[in-house]
Amino acid sequence: MKKAVFIRNASQLVTLRGTSNAPRVKGEMSELGIIENGSLWIEDGIIQAVGTDQELMARVNGRLTEADMVDASGKLVTPGLVDPHTHLVFAGSRENEFNMRLQGSTYMEIMNKGGGIHATTRATKAASHEELFQQSYTRLNQFLLHGVTTLEAKSGYGLEWETERKQLEVAKQLNEQHPIDIVSTFMGAHAIPKEYKDRPDDFVQLLIKQMIPKAAEWGLAEFNDVFCEKGVFTPEQAKIILEAGKYFGLMPKIHADEIEPYKGAELAAEIGAISADHLLKASEIGMKAMAEKGVVGVLLPGTAYFLMAESANARKMIDLGVPVALSTDCNPGSSPTISLPFIMNLGCLKMGMTPAEVITAATINAAHAINRSKDIGSLEVGKKGDVTIFNCENYMKLQYSYGVNHTDTVIKNGRVVVKDGHLAGPFSRP
Ligand code: NIG
Ligand code: FE
Repeated sequence: MKKAVFIRNASQLVTLRGTSNAPRVKGEMSELGIIENGSLWIEDGIIQAVGTDQELMARVNGRLTEADMVDASGKLVTPGLVDPHTHLVFAGSRENEFNMRLQGSTYMEIMNKGGGIHATTRATKAASHEELFQQSYTRLNQFLLHGVTTLEAKSGYGLEWETERKQLEVAKQLNEQHPIDIVSTFMGAHAIPKEYKDRPDDFVQLLIKQMIPKAAEWGLAEFNDVFCEKGVFTPEQAKIILEAGKYFGLMPKIHADEIEPYKGAELAAEIGAISADHLLKASEIGMKAMAEKGVVGVLLPGTAYFLMAESANARKMIDLGVPVALSTDCNPGSSPTISLPFIMNLGCLKMGMTPAEVITAATINAAHAINRSKDIGSLEVGKKGDVTIFNCENYMKLQYSYGVNHTDTVIKNGRVVVKDGHLAGPFSRP
């Protein structure tokens, strides 16, 4: 393998150059920084030059033999996609619950009867580290084949330390062994275990006194997330849990206002969360507070689609100045998908976002939601050589021609890992 990759002559090279200091809001979300006939030189894993093909040829002409050449003519080149909210590491699947929901049961009813998150918790407890690793590795390959080069992964299917730790350790090993970069979140506050049903505050104490300190001290997570929802954790409990995380150096994230309005968005702003996710039922006051504090709204229209609920009001959030990001929420209950491009299509058709805004939401704003905006999310000199090439002449077509995987080539850290829509490299089988 050569030490450089030279991507040449894209019909559109979406750079998203410019503001990396703060997530993009309002009109900034539509500024894609497109270069027509664009080229990109990556060396030692880092982007070294970006410009028109003519400009780059003038600069690197004498060095062409040093680089692997990728012909992007007629294609769309974007920053590698970033998925800022997944429950990647889990065992089992819940198609039986899908069937029940199609016949009228609700997500919360199923959970309250011991299914839902509890069902996946049982399966994840029973699975060995190796089994979880294999299953998650396969999932990661699918993410990569759909253009994702970095994703966030949460624990939360243990609800006790040993299994939470197992999930986080699997995520750590996946980060080391799979090309996709994984950013970890501790989410022991994903549900109240059955044995704590009548004394949830005792579980909160267990989280803040034992599990959160361990997750932080063992260096297994950067973020701390909580499912703040009627019947799960109250805003008061969520605040205690997130403040404890902050004390131990874990940045707060919240599953907020997903099923019922519960002032989750307000809480996110109050405690300075890096993101508030879901927000289907967020109030206008909450949205304004998020905008003021720069809390990224991570929207998950796949979850609304799969739960047959009305999507979050992305249009309103963007107009109010909330920086919006998009994510799959990949999990076995409310969003069993790995396709971020499909989620981007839902962003357009179900949430009133434009094709330009959804690209920003799945790249630079997603990078902000996981504190990685200095390294990824745009194609600029000095950033990681993470690039996705789609078989589309322009960015609008990526959303217009929907339900199709347009991913042609993926480059991760300057290495071609997907070629002609197939995994390229020995990592495809762990
Ligand atoms: O983001 N809402 C809580 N957590 C997940 C669902 C997890 C599950 O159902 O297994 C979510 O929707
Ligand atoms: Fe989630």
